[in-house]
Amino acid sequence: MTQASVSSHEHALNSAPYAPLFEPISIGSLRLRNRIAMAPMTRRLTNGTVPGQAHATYYARFAQGGTGLVITEGTHIDDGHSVDADDTPALFGPEHIARWKLVTDAVHHAGGAIACQLWHTGRHGRDPIAPSAVPVKNADGTTKPVPREMTRDDMDQVRDAFAHAGTCAQHAGFDAIELHGAHGYLLESFLSPATNTRTDDYGGTLANRMRYPLEVVRTVRTAVGPSYPIIYRFSQWKIEDYAAASFANPDELGVFVCALRDAGVDILHVSTRDATAPGYPEAHPTRTLAGWSKKLSTLPTIAVGRVSVSQSMGETGAIATTDPAPAAALIRDGETDVIAVGRALIANPDWCERVRAGKWHDLKAFDKAMLKTLD
Ligand SMILES: Cc1cc2nc3c(=O)[nH]c(=O)nc-3n(C[C@H](O)[C@H](O)[C@H](O)COP(=O)(O)O)c2cc1C
Repeated sequence: MTQASVSSHEHALNSAPYAPLFEPISIGSLRLRNRIAMAPMTRRLTNGTVPGQAHATYYARFAQGGTGLVITEGTHIDDGHSVDADDTPALFGPEHIARWKLVTDAVHHAGGAIACQLWHTGRHGRDPIAPSAVPVKNADGTTKPVPREMTRDDMDQVRDAFAHAGTCAQHAGFDAIELHGAHGYLLESFLSPATNTRTDDYGGTLANRMRYPLEVVRTVRTAVGPSYPIIYRFSQWKIEDYAAASFANPDELGVFVCALRDAGVDILHVSTRDATAPGYPEAHPTRTLAGWSKKLSTLPTIAVGRVSVSQSMGETGAIATTDPAPAAALIRDGETDVIAVGRALIANPDWCERVRAGKWHDLKAFDKAMLKTLD
């Protein structure tokens, strides 16, 4: 065997477990060159609410490194109560559209697709509104300001602001939008009986607690038209409670994901702290939450959580790099269609290229200090 054939043979051996990650996929009008998405990650590095050239360069870097789908950091809709900090981006005015267009052009130029994550922080906002006046309890025992219980007018305004942001995303050249329904923010807080104690049609039973998020989805769907891809992100953890589970069992999960599908969602983004962990071990020993969501709804899924990093969200200690083969196996085994990578991508914008070459050992470990700049 010649030297060249030895190394190409080794390459094939090294990269074989990762091959499922590099199969292209089309989901409606969304064409992805591979199964790897960048997880949405707030950077708090916007000057005001408008992204700059630095954001175009930053997001394009991940597409240049091979990422199939870039999902932006949480981006505010047009509601003053949504905001939790001055330096997070928004998408509702002409300037936002023009600046985000620079970002989408740069990502497209590098061969990637890009979705905008639309966000309302709800009870985590600076001037918070929420389904009920239940404040966030921080881990240190302090509480955030008590949110004002949303009126019907608030609910209409926020719902319409999500829809407006959806059409702005289309004008800005995004290939899809993602509704942030996870992690304890506004839409998720309607689902949980702990944060939604309403006694009207929007509180109480699961059907009532789902009602508002579904109204938002339906209004967004009407605004963006029948074929524009809508991703919905939901989670099994919250910023203020890493052990929180929105759905106690597969039956409840099934009711929700089928309702999302029927309201117009195309893709479920299932946010867990470990994408490979069983969702309901008592019901099935290995099926992940993404696997359950896919099976119950028949929708394509994105799975996220601890891909190629040693620590789950909320775990302390130094974060080491780990083998992404178990994440690739999720795709091979039909548990998910796409995997999203968060912290490992921040540390390695060229994560895809390295993994494709079977060189995950060369990946840099993530460190919080990497979040200080967009460089
Ligand atoms: C710095 C940072 C910012 C984040 N911001 C967001 C966000 O804006 N929206 C969101 O849905 N998730 C956010 N997340 C969660 C990530 O999308 C992802 O679910 C999480 O990092 C787990 O993936 P990983 O283990 O691959 O890092 C953030 C995570 C990090 C580390």
